[in-house]
This record gives sequence, C-alpha cells and structure tokens, in this order.
Amino acid sequence: MATTEKTEVKFSEARKQEIERIRGRYETPRGLIMPLLWMIQDDYGWISYDAMELIAGECETSPAWVYSIATFYTMFELEKPIRYHLQVCNTLSCGLCGSESILAHLEDRLGIQAGESTEDGRFRLTAVECLASCGTGPMMQMNDEYYESLTTEKVDAMLEEWNCD
Ligand code: FES
Repeated sequence: MATTEKTEVKFSEARKQEIERIRGRYETPRGLIMPLLWMIQDDYGWISYDAMELIAGECETSPAWVYSIATFYTMFELEKPIRYHLQVCNTLSCGLCGSESILAHLEDRLGIQAGESTEDGRFRLTAVECLASCGTGPMMQMNDEYYESLTTEKVDAMLEEWNCD
C-alpha cells in the first residue's frame, strides 16, 4: 500500500529530456508509465501518490491507472524507505546464544515491537529466521550488513553510532 504522506516530487531537466527522447517509442502516452515509474524509483527510492499524479499528467491518464500498474508489480517500492532495518535472527542457534534478550533490548531502546517501525521512519525492527551466520550468534542484519556475537552493550554502541538517542 502506498503511503499518503505528502512529498515534493518532480522530474529533473535531464529526466524531462530523457522522457522526450523515449516518448516516440510508445504508441500511446500510457506506454510511458513503466519507464517513468522506474525513473521516479531510481531518483527518489520509492513511488509516492504525488509521483503517481506526476506520472499520470505526463501519460495523459488518471493517477488511479498509474496506481493500478505500480501496485501490480512487486519491484516497485511504494513505501518510503526505512533508514535502518534491523533484522534479528530468531532461530535456534541464535536463540541459544541469547537472541531473545537482544530483541527485547532493541524493542525497549527503540520503543517499538518487532514488526514495527519508529514514527520518524528511521528504524524498522524485524524478527527473522536463520540468516546463515549460526556460528556467530546472536546476530542481526542491518540493511545489507551483518552484526554478530551481539551483546546489549554492542547494540547500545551501534544505536549510538546510528544516532538513535
Ligand atoms: S540461527 Fe541465527 S543465523 Fe542461523
């Protein structure tokens, strides 16, 4: 589901030139919807309702039509990206090493439960199954990086670094 948060979105001059360059490839203006969705995602990281309205204007169609296409394909991001996505492994090996207390500590520090995001959109906390780093539990993944042999002190230092306080 796309967020309704108001965003300022526009095509840069370079993008406008690119749009004019490819426009002739399509039989109807609607043919541009997919490339424009990609452009917006590349430039902003996600596609808001405002972006859909912008695309609809370029493609001489309704925002609802753009929405129907954007929501059909799973490769389009319709939520504003979270800055730090913390995924704590919750499977047996990590569990035996104390992953439950790591998760509880993160819930306490961030003021959210697993499966939730902070209101400012900076952190999302998720309990996940094995991340194939079973020998170095408890562990978590933050975006694309692994953090292993965790303790609550290490977690506090990370949150400090990520400017949580
Ligand atoms: S059990 Fe945690 S990484 Fe495999």
